[in-house]
Amino acid sequence: MHLKYCKIICMTDINIKELINEAFEGRANAYAPYSGFKVGAALLTSNGIYTGCNIENSSYSATNCAERTAIFKAVSEGVKDFKAIAIVGGYDGKDIEDYAAPCGVCRQVMSEFVDSDSFVIIMAKSPEEYVVKTLSELLPLGFKLENK
Ligand code: THU
Repeated sequence: MHLKYCKIICMTDINIKELINEAFEGRANAYAPYSGFKVGAALLTSNGIYTGCNIENSSYSATNCAERTAIFKAVSEGVKDFKAIAIVGGYDGKDIEDYAAPCGVCRQVMSEFVDSDSFVIIMAKSPEEYVVKTLSELLPLGFKLENK
């Protein structure tokens, strides 16, 4: 693993595998009757792991992504100290073929609560196959209000 990531997140491979497994657990609850694309997320916080899944809606636009489900679950319970998020996504009933990168809206929501240089996004196909990026790598020049 790249030294930068070791230092930033202090996560071992075992922690990462655990978080990916939790993302798969979250994915099991995905409600995706329209796209058939099921996503799971596991958010590592100072208060443990919050999982999430995508929740689609017949209006389409009211759909909530897995990452935001996990983040909103944590924030709604008073937890805003986030360290990392693992994401898994793929079509229902098929093998996961690609890394599921978070959409732009989810990246923006992450940036509301985290330090973009140290928050880590783990995109996984399996507990053994994953890529790790910081939020600043995935969201350079994200919008921020300094005086919040
Ligand atoms: N989706 C997520 O859950 N996370 C993302 O970051 C991108 C997309 C969901 C939304 C929708 O239910 C399905 O994937 C297909 O777009």
